[in-house]
Amino acid sequence: MANTDTVEIKIGDKTFLLPAFAGTYDEKAADISKLLAETGFVTYDIGYKNTATTRSTITFIDGDVGTLEHRGYPIEQLADQASYLEVMHLLLHETLPTQAQLEAFKEALNAHAGLPAGIYTLLDALPDEIHPMGMLSVVMNALSGYHPEAEDSWANPEVRWDAIYRLLANMPAITAAIYRRSQKLPYVAYDPSLDYVSNFLNMMFGKIDKVAAEALDTLLILHADHEQNCSTSTVRMVGSSHVNLYASIAAGCNALWGPLHGGANQEVLEMLEAIRLDGGDTEKYIAKAKDKADPFRLMGFGHRVYKNYDPRARVIKKYVDKVLDELHIEDPLVEIAKGLESAALSDSYFVDRKLFPNVDFYSGIIYRALGIPVNLFTVMFAFGRLPGWISQWKELREHNEPINRPRQIYMGEATRDYTPIAQRES
Ligand code: SDX
Repeated sequence: MANTDTVEIKIGDKTFLLPAFAGTYDEKAADISKLLAETGFVTYDIGYKNTATTRSTITFIDGDVGTLEHRGYPIEQLADQASYLEVMHLLLHETLPTQAQLEAFKEALNAHAGLPAGIYTLLDALPDEIHPMGMLSVVMNALSGYHPEAEDSWANPEVRWDAIYRLLANMPAITAAIYRRSQKLPYVAYDPSLDYVSNFLNMMFGKIDKVAAEALDTLLILHADHEQNCSTSTVRMVGSSHVNLYASIAAGCNALWGPLHGGANQEVLEMLEAIRLDGGDTEKYIAKAKDKADPFRLMGFGHRVYKNYDPRARVIKKYVDKVLDELHIEDPLVEIAKGLESAALSDSYFVDRKLFPNVDFYSGIIYRALGIPVNLFTVMFAFGRLPGWISQWKELREHNEPINRPRQIYMGEATRDYTPIAQRES
């Protein structure tokens, strides 16, 4: 579709022409920026299922085919051949790095590494009952206090990049500190002589396992970005008010926490464990998932965009057997997960609704095999997604997009006069 194309809207006996344009893969958009001014109509799209909120060059998803690309590179190739740091560079700097650029990127991260001591004191002061995602959100907001210059991260590119490197450099330490706090273990210091993922493992467990490092590097790549999902849209929404980067990321953490979004990886493991304890009867849980009277959903299944197998789930499923074999772990949940998948994908309820495994269905099995507790799974999702959130926030800034302020259709009471309390009926 050429940019000169238009779409016609007929309202009554009037015809309105709206500009239209197409994306790289010929996705078509009607530009409704002037719809209200020209027609008096707004559009209504609950959950934004049909609404594009931006033009982006970062990530492309084809939900029908089940493909995912970051700046043109298929996720399967990035997962199999790239390192997480290369993907970070790709998302942030728009190109895969040369060796020299990668070294410079690593140096920039190392130069920004180091959490203020107050962050650890803050974690210690939080109630034991708080969920690790709540801890993460607190830490992100607190960092804006240790780096007040970040208030200028919208206006000042130097301050912006400082905040970007500081967040990426310290996410391993933040994630590990949250784990150590939740397990009531002493904190382990950052070791600048270690690479990014090995440092994380060392700060988590006080030791480094090569198999775990390789598996984690791939899992972080698979979670790095996913266009305008709920938490990324939240980062953009909050960022559009020109608040600092830390506060925008904190908002993304809170959105990701939800069980329908990033919280699903924890829900999947708890679901699989419940099925195991209930005798492993997958048919019973497939029936529950289909029963409209039953609130149970097959967690890790279904997706707003993918109406085919989530390509990330396909890669993760491939790694499950490899990692468990290399770690010599037998996990009964693997067979339960595979049994659920097989039963669902041959059941018309799931097939008709195009419900396939998503990124969360198998990821928790690997996290658990690496010794990561279930309540930290969503923090691990945030860890992987951080460069994606930041890249999307950076794109919003560079496009100088306006404050996000959707409209509504009011369905409440029409104008009426105030009634003094003495005259109100009980
Ligand atoms: C992530 O957007 C992203 O990109 C997110 C993400 C990312 O990387 O950022 O990919 C990460 O959030 C993955 C999704 C993790 N969430 C889950 O696994 C939770 C379980 N899945 C669902 O709740 C659901 O599938 C959603 C929330 C993921 C998508 O919901 P939609 O698109 O709003 O679809 P819907 O709820 O309208 O469901 C359509 C139909 C309904 O049945 P009918 O009313 O048509 O009869 O499918 C049914 C739903 O009841 N359905 C399910 C189901 N998911 C949808 N039925 C049983 N089990 C499920 N998991």
